[in-house]
Amino acid sequence: MIGFVDLHCHALFRVDDGAKDENTMKSMLDLAYSDGTRYLCFTPHFKIFEFDSEDEVYVQMQRLNHRFKIACEYTHEKYPDMCLFLGNEIMYHLDADVSLATNKCHYLGDSSYALIEFEPDSSAYEIESSVLRLLRRGVRPLIAHIERYSAIVKDFSFAKSLKDNGALFQVNARSVTKFKFGKIANFLKLSFKKRMVDVVASDAHNATSFSPQLSKAYSTVLKKYGQDYADSIFHEKPLAILKNEQIF
Ligand SMILES: [Fe+2]
Repeated sequence: MIGFVDLHCHALFRVDDGAKDENTMKSMLDLAYSDGTRYLCFTPHFKIFEFDSEDEVYVQMQRLNHRFKIACEYTHEKYPDMCLFLGNEIMYHLDADVSLATNKCHYLGDSSYALIEFEPDSSAYEIESSVLRLLRRGVRPLIAHIERYSAIVKDFSFAKSLKDNGALFQVNARSVTKFKFGKIANFLKLSFKKRMVDVVASDAHNATSFSPQLSKAYSTVLKKYGQDYADSIFHEKPLAILKNEQIF
């Protein structure tokens, strides 16, 4: 077994719309572990417009750190071979690089990669200019659930140019099995076929309907696109991100 690496997960409790309490977080960690995940990065939402002051941001940061410590104590006891990391799913804003540099939000672990999301109806221009701005400022963007943005899904050449410019693509595990027909299914099929997807992650929000399990999506990718690629996007590349290695 390769040991899945989950780079997008809302299991940290009472910090966003993910795990509602400590027990839910523990159930999510139990599920992730039993399903084969050995590296998991918590990525609570970070939306700068939700804060009224800098103080509020830093209070939230302390809250994250405290709850992360509780999660680490739990896995250290129960699953000593499981590694946890702290990140954020950052809703893009003009000063996202400054927010990262001033520790208002987290990169993925100690890397220089950050999980970035956009509004689903963002224009191609908004997405491209944001990606380029981040790259210019030393932030390597892993775009969260790439299948969610209409400007990307409808224009594969735009998706390709984003990749060529240095963006990385993350797909949600649920989307791998959920979309069978239509635009998103076609986009995903082509993206996997052309090896454009870098990471599949759970984006889990609970222990039931949106859980942190990757094995089903892994089996689907394995069957359709082969073991080398499946291992690459469920293990090798996400692990390389956490190690801050260059991804090609
Ligand atoms: Fe998310």
